Amino acid sequence: MAKVKTTYFCQNCGSQYPKWQGQCSSCKQWNSIVEEVVQKMEKKAWKSTTTVKNRVSKPLRVQDIDASEEARLNTYDAEFNRVLGGGIVPGSLILLGGEPGIGKSTLLLQVSLNLPYKTLYVSGEESQKQIKMRAQRINANNEMCYILTETKTQHIFKQIEVLEPEVVIIDSIQTLHSDYIETSAGSVSQIKECTTELIKFAKETATPVLLIGHITKDGHIAGPKILEHMVDTVLQFEGDRNHVFRILRAHKNRFGSTNELGIYEMQGSGLREVSNPSDILISKKDEELSGNAVAVTLEGMRPLLIEVQALVSTAVYGTPQRSATGFNAKRLNMLLAVLEKRAGFRLGAKDVFLNITGGINVDDPAIDLAVVAAILSSNEDEAIQKDYCFAGEVGLSGEIRPVQRVEQRILEAEKLGFATIFVSKYNKISVKNTNIKIQLVSKIEDVAGHLMV
Ligand code: TYD
Ligand code: MG
Repeated sequence: MAKVKTTYFCQNCGSQYPKWQGQCSSCKQWNSIVEEVVQKMEKKAWKSTTTVKNRVSKPLRVQDIDASEEARLNTYDAEFNRVLGGGIVPGSLILLGGEPGIGKSTLLLQVSLNLPYKTLYVSGEESQKQIKMRAQRINANNEMCYILTETKTQHIFKQIEVLEPEVVIIDSIQTLHSDYIETSAGSVSQIKECTTELIKFAKETATPVLLIGHITKDGHIAGPKILEHMVDTVLQFEGDRNHVFRILRAHKNRFGSTNELGIYEMQGSGLREVSNPSDILISKKDEELSGNAVAVTLEGMRPLLIEVQALVSTAVYGTPQRSATGFNAKRLNMLLAVLEKRAGFRLGAKDVFLNITGGINVDDPAIDLAVVAAILSSNEDEAIQKDYCFAGEVGLSGEIRPVQRVEQRILEAEKLGFATIFVSKYNKISVKNTNIKIQLVSKIEDVAGHLMV
């Protein structure tokens, strides 16, 4: 009998050790190292089909390589296609991560119900009945979508051989379990083994495989980091569970750009694509309220207008409170320090609360100017005109710095009926004959001067 081979893995970060130790040296987590049997018997996972058995790779000139067969599968979901770079590439492995309850299963079930190809949706988390109930909510009828509830990879491959699906969806990789490894599902070596088997299957049959992956509490995909290296595409589904908007981003994409972004709205009947996000994210109210400012941000390649709300009030306790939702709290503190120094606002004695509406997390620095404007407006209790919008980064000395693709932002703001956009004086702007007034500012003081008249 072959000797049973074991190794120690950190369940948090996936580092491997020859013997047990109390703390993981790479992620510093305590008590996370567990012994796992890495190989129980000889490997014989996905069996190669006869056609590819004796395939030997030969070097080819780049121009001789036939790329025409890489025609992508259209998912009939404009946002999903966009994020993937135009559709699913045959034979690719796509990993979709996201917080529990954010809608990963809903998204992929919806995609499989819309696909005009034979699709196998394998779930290790829900029963066929539960999935049927979900499918009824989404209200799609598709004769080519098969549901399988199974967690053992060998059984899944058996079913795949019979059914011959054109697309395989796995919900989720952490529930899969391979016979060749003895540890429980979700452990580092199981995830690695199951993914390897699926990659082998995907590459040899040119069948795309979409995996759902759980994430850890700090937002990384659970399991070894190597999982992200193994797959071709890593998508992240994010959003605030209390809000309806969900954002789909590509963190890695071997077949397209990672700049693209898909926006969905979670409704009672599944996810709806949002093609005009700016229109929805800014409230069209008649009254002008103090502390509100509209930022023209760029999410991926798409301009997105977002409302920023600030509330500045006198601090009751000794240390003023600062809190930000959807915005980096450190950056907020920095902006407040700049305001204090450059614009003479005594914010040290004030509580400041900041909120980006829609539950969206923004990391485009162009939002700074709107944040500053909202804080100034709330501090003075003077409303900003509701047809003003802002796009600029604020530097440490209070200068307004240029932002990328400013023309695109200006055109989007104009399209949505804004009358004035505040941008940095240092931006090179080539658009002419616009109906929108382009207000150039170079310092925070200029902005304050324009707003407080
Ligand atoms: P789910 O796809 O189960 O999340 P995940 O797989 O990421 O854990 O999403 C569950 C949430 O979505 C749940 O809170 C209910 C909500 N939902 C809707 O609002 N409308 C719908 O049509 C569906 C199917 C789910
Ligand atoms: Mg799920």
